[in-house]
Amino acid sequence: METAVTGIDLPEADWFDPREATHDPYPQYARLRELGPVVYAPSVRRVFITTHSAVGAAEQNPEVFSSYSEKNLTMVRAIGGRPMLRKDDPKHAVERRAINPTLRPKAIGEIWSPKLAENVEFWLERMLEIGPGQADLNRDFAAPVASQNLIDLLGFPSDVDVADMHRWSGDFIAGIGNLPDDPEVWVRCDRSQAEVAAVLDELLPRLRREPDGSVTSHLLQVGLPEEVVRANVALAISGGMNEPQHMITNMVWALSAHPDQRAAVLSGEAGWGEAFEETVRWQSPIGMLPREVAAETEFFGVRLAAGTDVGLLLASANRDDEAFADAERYDVRRTARGHLGFGAGVHMCAGRWTAKAAIADLALPRLYDRVPRLDIDRSRPTAWNGWVFRGITALPVTW
Ligand code: HEM
Repeated sequence: METAVTGIDLPEADWFDPREATHDPYPQYARLRELGPVVYAPSVRRVFITTHSAVGAAEQNPEVFSSYSEKNLTMVRAIGGRPMLRKDDPKHAVERRAINPTLRPKAIGEIWSPKLAENVEFWLERMLEIGPGQADLNRDFAAPVASQNLIDLLGFPSDVDVADMHRWSGDFIAGIGNLPDDPEVWVRCDRSQAEVAAVLDELLPRLRREPDGSVTSHLLQVGLPEEVVRANVALAISGGMNEPQHMITNMVWALSAHPDQRAAVLSGEAGWGEAFEETVRWQSPIGMLPREVAAETEFFGVRLAAGTDVGLLLASANRDDEAFADAERYDVRRTARGHLGFGAGVHMCAGRWTAKAAIADLALPRLYDRVPRLDIDRSRPTAWNGWVFRGITALPVTW
């Protein structure tokens, strides 16, 4: 379908290549910002918003830059329902209010921290058994820790395996990005939807009788219709595992590539919290958010027609020199405050405190406590994938 762009002086990036972006999107982002804050990319039929100020402005204007779409339905198709992330206020707000209390710092401290710490210990022990030169930090630590954390946060039963959660998350993410409409991806999504539905068929009646502190229980307790509960649980499965997984490996990769900064963090000169935020800024796990123009608007000097498909380039905004001095430089000592790696505005990530606690307070400090000489094993290949969702798929490590 043609996008409904009308551009007065709308610069066009006919060279933007999504395949090239999966290798390293940042050089193309730099070129896009040079063209301006609002740029049309024919290869993805989307108007990109490229700079920090423009992405921030779009996020503060959800009436125009809507998260609701009737034509871009890959997320709805992938997870089998419409979650809060694809709704606008006031409908979005009702669901968002239901999930917030379970993921805020108070709940993390009171309910989750001990369990999240236990998960780190368990998988750390397993990785140590696998040994230096053999272990893969993604496969053996980041993925299972992020999966088990989410199993616990959702209140899923203990017989749900980390490999299942990993696969469901990967399938849903693949479906959300399945713009080419690859039927095999939908087969994977359908299978994962059916498996998650089978878990919820048993779990929901139990949680109605015996509510607990889990995300799923809270969504039920506020009286949301069951299909809405199911859609938001599936949303949490897609982002709540994949992104924390990527942040664990991204941090180790970034610190290994900058030994002086690793030394600063390990000596306490720089904080884990700052290193976490700087890594979310510098290697943003979510590179682009889709939005649709709900009403014709003039934005940064460009007229955009209703129905225009927009991509808010979070990862580009986070490398904007206007917002961060020498933004291409990784620097754990800087203040990355104001980065857009969690989005901004009404949809800003609901799980950001949980992710930060799980990674910056627990997983990373403990990992380097136990394995102070942890480093990338350069004799085996590291693999990155994606640009809309971007992360490391293999991170061989040694110590
Ligand atoms: C470091 C890890 C994470 C990153 C980088 C991340 C990133 C994001 C981003 C960029 C958004 C905004 C999407 C949009 O506006 O279209 C978002 C939304 C969301 N995230 Fe996260 N996320 C992370 C971890 C988590 C975790 C652990 C959970 C849950 C356990 C979670 C649950 C959610 C939910 C429910 C939303 C939708 C909020 C809404 O629509 O109001 N996220 N996340």
